[in-house]
Amino acid sequence: MIIAITSLKGGVGKSTISQNLAVCFAHMGYRVAIIDTDTNASSVHWSGIRSEDHPPITVMGITDSNALRKNIRQVEENYDMVLIDGTPAISKLVSTILILGDLVLIPIRPSGLDIWATEKFMEHFDQARSLKEHIQARFLLNEFNPKVNLNRDIQKALDELEIGTLQATLRHRIAYEEACVMGLGVYEYRDTKAKREVTQLTNEVLDLLKAL
Ligand SMILES: Nc1ncnc2c1ncn2[C@@H]1O[C@H](COP(=O)(O)OP(=O)(O)OP(=O)(O)O)[C@@H](O)[C@H]1O
Ligand SMILES: [Mg+2]
Repeated sequence: MIIAITSLKGGVGKSTISQNLAVCFAHMGYRVAIIDTDTNASSVHWSGIRSEDHPPITVMGITDSNALRKNIRQVEENYDMVLIDGTPAISKLVSTILILGDLVLIPIRPSGLDIWATEKFMEHFDQARSLKEHIQARFLLNEFNPKVNLNRDIQKALDELEIGTLQATLRHRIAYEEACVMGLGVYEYRDTKAKREVTQLTNEVLDLLKAL
């Protein structure tokens, strides 16, 4: 299965979510790979510091759209779960990522700026759908706080869009940053609330994949 994590805005949590889902899947016994499509190579760096004491996750960097299309089937044959960690650039690569994913996750932070970027994303999404009609996609609220009115308003605004929103949300937690710089996912870290929320996210994603 291929799970693509993409957005048109930088710094919304694509790499964090790719890594954390990968870690949860690896602990469930799946063979997991991340394809890092960003030239910043955050996930490639993350895997470089990941200890061999933890379940293995293969991370490969592919930053070219044609190379991605050429190699994806081979990767899919060798792994149960392939996560594509997207790039923020508006490019052919984003369209390719949208088309390749069995499931596309679109992280979004509940701020006005991210919502505006989403309008542009929807145009891009519609274009991709002219190439593949049924793209399974869901928004994922990252750094979400249900106690903040604006956050809830944005959650409601997303409900009006054609793309659904996952029930699971991620809060702003230092654990995400700390685990990342240790080559870990929060599932392997000490913050039990963070661990619980990524577990919920992983289970919801698995349910969606099973329903495909
Ligand atoms: N839920 C969270 N709580 C706290 N920090 C977070 C959370 N999600 C992401 N971050 C932090 O925000 C920063 C940006 O996240 P990340 O690198 O995952 O975004 P990205 O979408 O992959 O960015 P880019 O577009 O540059 O690739 C990182 O420092 C990450 O640790
Ligand atoms: Mg990234």
